[in-house]
Amino acid sequence: MDLYNEVAELLVKKRSAVALTGAGVSAESGIPTFRGPGGLWTFYRPEDIATPEAFERDPEKVWRWYRMRLEKIFEAKPNPGHYALAEMERLGILNCVITQNVDELNRLAGNKCVVELHGSIRRIRCVSCGYVERLEDLSKLDNLPPKCLRCGSIMRPDVVLFGEPIPMREWTRALTETYKAEIMLIVGTSGSVYPAALLPHIAKERGSLIIEINPEETELSYIADIKIRARSGEALPEILERARRLILSTQ
Ligand code: OAD
Ligand code: ZN
Repeated sequence: MDLYNEVAELLVKKRSAVALTGAGVSAESGIPTFRGPGGLWTFYRPEDIATPEAFERDPEKVWRWYRMRLEKIFEAKPNPGHYALAEMERLGILNCVITQNVDELNRLAGNKCVVELHGSIRRIRCVSCGYVERLEDLSKLDNLPPKCLRCGSIMRPDVVLFGEPIPMREWTRALTETYKAEIMLIVGTSGSVYPAALLPHIAKERGSLIIEINPEETELSYIADIKIRARSGEALPEILERARRLILSTQ
């Protein structure tokens, strides 16, 4: 049987799936991934720009890098992969998206249940008082680093930097969704960053079915029961289409 049909049938039968996503899902929106050919980490070293130490040393440099990423992200739109995930949630065959992405494209596509493990690049947070502000455009970043409206201290991107823990609330939600679901879709992630990459292992241990969608082999491939070697912008709409037909045919 065709793998897309198989996955669609499982999603419709169980009505209990969660997706763990990574940079690959946004690649087709024009946002570069971190690893692999053309990935951000082939041009930059994470320890220079994505750690709390780097921010303390040179907040302006770190900010310039985030502003460059934000420019791309503000221009980006959700792609067919994001829209398929949103429609799957609407149809009741996907409970939630747990993402490592900071671009908020899942929400923009229409997903209601989104766990943002690594925060959002569209928010900034005061390093002193914790005040959080949303960025609607780049104007707040004309002078770097941006200053807190409340206390005047400097603000940082409201994202998880390397070496920082995932906020407890997000991590708890991610665990709850992982335990609740009988199927985990792992989409567009290399599975190399922890603790995010723990979630598929927890799901596996719990007896969930693991389905990987990724054009390449990853560090999580060995625990996947089904592997679809395709881009998410192609595979997810295919699966959705088949699931839709199945739902219609049983109504
Ligand atoms: P990576 O850049 O490590 O991996 C991207 C994955 O997407 C790879 O496995 C690619 O094969 C796959 N891929 C590329 N194009 C794709 C497409 N069109 N459809 C589906 N898959 C595709 O990104 P993440 O796994 O998200 O963390 O990286 C995890 C974390 O490492 C990020 O959240 C970030 C990064 O450093 C922090 O900044 C803390
Ligand atoms: Zn402040």
